[in-house]
Amino acid sequence: MITAKSTHEKLAIEGGPQAFPQPQGDIRPKIGVEEFMSIAERFGFSPAALRRIREAVSEEDLGAGPTLSRYLTARPPAAKGVEFEKLAREIFGVKHALALGSGTGALHSAFVGAGVGPGTEVIVPAIGFAATAAAVVLCKGVPIFCDVDESLSIDPVKIERLITPRTVAVAPTCVMGAVPDMDPILALAKKRGLKVIEDCAQAPGAKYKGRYMGTLGDAGCFSISAYKIVGGGEGGLLLTNDQRLFERACQLAEGGGLTRPDRFAPPRYENELFCGTNYRMSELEAAVDVVQLAKMPALVARYNANRRNILRQLKTYREIVPQKINDLEGEVGYNIRFFPETVELGKKIAAALNAEGIGIGNFIWPSECSIRGPEAPPDWHVYSHIFAIMLKADAQRSGCSFNCPIYRERGGSVEYHRGDCPTADDLFDRNITIWLDPGYSEADCRAIAAGMNKVFSAYCTEDPQGTKWT
Ligand SMILES: Cc1ncc(COP(=O)(O)O)c(C=O)c1O
Repeated sequence: MITAKSTHEKLAIEGGPQAFPQPQGDIRPKIGVEEFMSIAERFGFSPAALRRIREAVSEEDLGAGPTLSRYLTARPPAAKGVEFEKLAREIFGVKHALALGSGTGALHSAFVGAGVGPGTEVIVPAIGFAATAAAVVLCKGVPIFCDVDESLSIDPVKIERLITPRTVAVAPTCVMGAVPDMDPILALAKKRGLKVIEDCAQAPGAKYKGRYMGTLGDAGCFSISAYKIVGGGEGGLLLTNDQRLFERACQLAEGGGLTRPDRFAPPRYENELFCGTNYRMSELEAAVDVVQLAKMPALVARYNANRRNILRQLKTYREIVPQKINDLEGEVGYNIRFFPETVELGKKIAAALNAEGIGIGNFIWPSECSIRGPEAPPDWHVYSHIFAIMLKADAQRSGCSFNCPIYRERGGSVEYHRGDCPTADDLFDRNITIWLDPGYSEADCRAIAAGMNKVFSAYCTEDPQGTKWT
């Protein structure tokens, strides 16, 4: 047994004086007022307001300061990431919600959760965003592009012929607030045993037949970034009711296993544990996003009401085909889109609409209405411009996903060309988008509709038999 020597200075443990009772220096929390002020500056408050904020907070005793970690929550306040996930579960009515650093991270995690890997294929839409196909490649799977219909969403009729023995999932994507026609997609996926991973990044809060997009398939993925109608800077959200998918998505997104009941426990089932990464949402982001998410239902309702209001007042024209709407009441409606017969006509209409002050949005970024035309610069929202996929390029030039031996053994082989999805090629270049604002009044909606009718009537032929707007 070890004992202290008989002659020794009395130790603190024996009731003697402490050697270091407390520091005499100027000990400050790691994060405090200066960091808070830096955030306030980033919000764009004026110098006078910043001075007032500093005065108001500098006397505050923050103790050890905040940790800004969702996992070190020994002292209040509660983690904003946890609050964000709880709110997401409540609003969307799902069992599981995972706050992530980006929409791409949400897609990557969901695809891994759904079993996408080497030798597998995922059917993705020809119009959407590069991240959906890229996330498949991050799993070493192969994206297969499916053409769209006049809703600009994946064409349910064209999915089936793309299914192979290698297909494990389909990823219907909401395009700029619109919703795909989900019933036939869900029915086909059920019939053919495919997972449905919804990419709702461009339409948070959209509904299909009364149910939130992102809750209809096996998982719903959202980007909660500055470029979306809901979001702060960079963030993502994954929703699912599937326990296993969720656990595997967590393992990918939270490689440390902090989401497991016992992170050091052996795997509870095959494939539970594997090397993951870190896609955690930061607490600062979550602090903004929990407020943004709470605003979502009312925001979407305002957008949708304004769009319906305007659409109802529009006349029909021979030379104009409106975007097909799969759910008038459910789509977010932050824009009105249509396809003029030719690019030349479209250019005239877009210029005239801008001159009327119509279609000029400033909610997410300043924009005006325009038509691309075939000579427009590349755009990652259409498959043929996603060059990394077209070139079949992965980070290591290893040949996997596209030329992976496992893929080849399963009979897989893929080439990508513009022309693979002709409706997307045509409609992407020929559509005009009119951006709307949720703050428009009744009078604003009337003026916009009247202005659109005025411009259309100047260049097109009014035709009561033309395609209806709703
Ligand atoms: C349809 C779609 N999916 C995924 C993403 C990727 O989201 P993030 O930029 O948050 O990674 C985006 C972003 O623009 C998107 O529009």
